[in-house]
Amino acid sequence: GTSHKQLKADLLSLKSPDESEDGFEKDENESSVSITVVGASGDLAKKKIFPALFALYYEDCLPKHFTIYGYARSKMTDAELRNMVSKTLTCRIDKRENCNEKMDQFLKRCFYHSGQYDSQENFAARDKKLKEHEGGRTSNRLFYLSIPPNIFIDAVKCASLSASSGNGWTRVIVEKPFGRDSESSAALTKSLKQYLTEDQIFRIDHYLGKELVENLSVLRFSNLIFEPLWSRQYIRNVQLIFSEDFGTEGRGGYFDHYGIIRDIMQNHLLQILALFAMETPVSLDAEDIRNEKVKVLRSMRPLRLEDVVIAALFIDNARWDGVPFLMKAGKALHNKRAEIRVQFRHVPGNLYNRNFGTDLDRATNELVIRVQPDEAIYLKINNKVPGLGMKLDRSNLNLHYAARYSKEIPDAYERLLLDAIEGERRLFIRSDELDAAWSLFTPVLKDLEEKKIIPEYYPYGSRGPVGAHYLAARHNVRWG
Ligand code: NDP
Ligand code: BG6
Repeated sequence: GTSHKQLKADLLSLKSPDESEDGFEKDENESSVSITVVGASGDLAKKKIFPALFALYYEDCLPKHFTIYGYARSKMTDAELRNMVSKTLTCRIDKRENCNEKMDQFLKRCFYHSGQYDSQENFAARDKKLKEHEGGRTSNRLFYLSIPPNIFIDAVKCASLSASSGNGWTRVIVEKPFGRDSESSAALTKSLKQYLTEDQIFRIDHYLGKELVENLSVLRFSNLIFEPLWSRQYIRNVQLIFSEDFGTEGRGGYFDHYGIIRDIMQNHLLQILALFAMETPVSLDAEDIRNEKVKVLRSMRPLRLEDVVIAALFIDNARWDGVPFLMKAGKALHNKRAEIRVQFRHVPGNLYNRNFGTDLDRATNELVIRVQPDEAIYLKINNKVPGLGMKLDRSNLNLHYAARYSKEIPDAYERLLLDAIEGERRLFIRSDELDAAWSLFTPVLKDLEEKKIIPEYYPYGSRGPVGAHYLAARHNVRWG
């Protein structure tokens, strides 16, 4: 909404809302933002959270009075935290620039506090340190729970009871997994809501922060040519593809317990699907968008065992009746990519059919949104090969981001952290969305576990299980 844009503009220009006409700041009215990374010694904090915070600082997107704290049980001094963090920071935004000076300034704003996750006493000490840094300003506090899920509630309880802000906002970013089925997810939400209101909970799905996922609604709703085609009338099937060319890499324990459906499909791919398939929201406000996503999630048919090798989802509403949505996700495959592929129907009575012989599938249009790597949006069209004869081929109308835009694409965590600081909830998962998402997958997950279904194996580095092709063929789909 407007307020969000205004706030962002204010942040970008670093102009405080309390700044007076002549430019002098009324210091006493300024607010501070403190970001506590709970689990700061861990992998995600090092890999994603601190680098994203530095990128935001580098781009002058963080408020003037911000401080970052690492919190974990490991013993570390401020200097040791800074040393650890400095190893992961890069001049991502402008590789030609030497950003050492900016890094030093950023690191001076980073501190470390060692404590237990279930100790109110330790969090009370956290509160004391926060107050010292806030220096009497309005205190806004963001806690990022970058810890294993079994200790979420302990940490939320302590943060809320002993270290929440007295006069500003307190927000908590929660990382996935949000439970492992409908029941455990509902229990997690219930426990979180003992200590926080829904407004304070920011459930992160970092795929929603990716540039091309954010662009999906722009593509649909600000171009006349796509929206009229965006339904069962013209679309044959939609494919949501996630593959990685490496294995579980030290996360085998987590994977044995959760698996690929919970790790990727129930959240990342389903969120993309909801954005892809939802109706036009009333406005761009978070609640309007999330309302539409919930509607489409609740119109989907829960998955059945026979839909799985890879899942085919159906949305039982007027727009999408009968259109299969196929999801494919896997690790240790032959390549790394995340894509949305939209295959359109055949052109009825196509004058040029004979140019395609019996392979009519080749003649259909396909829109590909390549989320990563090498971001692009391209449309496969039939085109005449230049020359005197009448030969057709498939060519791409190609929007290749690297060629079109010189600026680096921000990491998903940058956008999401900034949104959480600004209180923008659009890209975070509301509890009813989460319930709807789990309702779709829980029956099939239970079946898979109870019937002890053995997964179809595939060789490391291959294209995945052969069964995928049989399932796709059952729905008249050829994988892109
Ligand atoms: P880690 O396993 O690295 O854990 C983070 C920190 O939590 C550790 O450094 C440790 O700190 C503390 N910790 C770990 N295990 C326990 C335990 N059993 N009891 C108490 N404290 C513990 O996790 P990640 O950084 O990989 O992930 C953090 C969260 O983000 C998780 O919920 C994960 O599911 C999620 N996530 C992670 C992704 C990734 O790429 N890593 C991607 C998407 C989500 P100390 O011992 O110092 O207290
Ligand atoms: C995480 C999953 O949510 O997303 C990982 O837990 C996966 O298994 C990762 O590797 C992929 O994220 P990205 O941004 O690297 O595509």
